[in-house]
Amino acid sequence: MITRIIKLNEKKFRIDEIKIAIETIVKGGLVAFPTETVYGLGADVFNAKAIEKIYEVKGRPKDNPFIVHIADKKDVYRLASEIPEKAEGLMKKFWPGPLTLIFKKSKIVPDVTTAGLSTVAIRMPDNKIALALIRESKVPIAAPSANLAGKPSPTSAEHVIHDLYGKIEVIIDAGKTKIGVESTVLDITTDPPTLLRPGGVTLEELETFLGKVKLHPIVKSEKKIGKVIAKSPGMKYKHYAPEAELTVIEGKTIAVREKIQELANEYKTLGKRVGVMTTSKYDYDADVVKFVGRDLKTIAKNLFKTFREFDKEKVDVIIAESVKTSGMGLAIMNRLKKASGYNIVKT
Ligand code: TXA
Ligand code: MG
Repeated sequence: MITRIIKLNEKKFRIDEIKIAIETIVKGGLVAFPTETVYGLGADVFNAKAIEKIYEVKGRPKDNPFIVHIADKKDVYRLASEIPEKAEGLMKKFWPGPLTLIFKKSKIVPDVTTAGLSTVAIRMPDNKIALALIRESKVPIAAPSANLAGKPSPTSAEHVIHDLYGKIEVIIDAGKTKIGVESTVLDITTDPPTLLRPGGVTLEELETFLGKVKLHPIVKSEKKIGKVIAKSPGMKYKHYAPEAELTVIEGKTIAVREKIQELANEYKTLGKRVGVMTTSKYDYDADVVKFVGRDLKTIAKNLFKTFREFDKEKVDVIIAESVKTSGMGLAIMNRLKKASGYNIVKT
């Protein structure tokens, strides 16, 4: 398949520049498009065949549903069968923006979009290109992140091209995404609402607005707290993950630095090419050292890109400093833990 790449500037583009993308959605094709979080791989939500193609192209397990992206709040009233009182306020406060809300679904949403669930995930992205594409296609757009299943989400078109070039009709290239981690997923069919995935809207922001928020056990759990080095590949959760085996080190700054250097040395004697990801520009002795950023917003923005850069450098292992779990830190640590297959070392 020939993939068309359309280069655009979010601040100044004309609708006729995305005409091919709009036509592709309308005809049941796939379009990768920018959002404020990560790039999405979109299709007409009502076209079951097009949705099937997303699963195929990504290699995504069929039991993992997609988020429906809308440009007009009114669409919630036809996609959802029940709208809890809290939803109105949340939509008003956080949309457009990185908050996905889970509603009971209406009949018009095909089962394939929600992987057979009785609920549907909906969000309004804060990106002018995404909103124009949805509006002009005249249908909500179902879209997972535009990466191959298991890989880090794409935060620039270059990442989408790497994973999906030749497999989809159109890629809209609008440069880097602003936030860098995916949207927060909040289930509002429960009372209090349940946080299913930390993301671009922080837990603190939600709590300020809602009062109480339940954390789903998946968000809290640490799963396997890992032994280092000796690990079977099967243990690895393939999610957001770089090729290299990732280990996350938690603890006080000095102890973390010492542990990382100790592990780096150990791996080195095993003949491994070692990468270290730092948030402090500390001068580690390793094959590749990457500074991901110092403040949480910058770290979130650079995280997935940095994973991909380590892959380009062909390191065998990555050892990463952890971050605090307040604010955007909760989403960052969630991605780090998943990407490592919960291979976490506490010092
Ligand atoms: O920021 C984002 O959310 C990006 C951009 C493209 O919008 N999208 C994204 O989609 O991250 P995806 O498919 O990679 O992740 C969607 C998450 C998955 O964890 C999925 O299981 C969950 O949302 N999800 C979707 N529908 C759901 C539902 N009905 N109930 C519970 N979780 C749901
Ligand atoms: Mg994804």
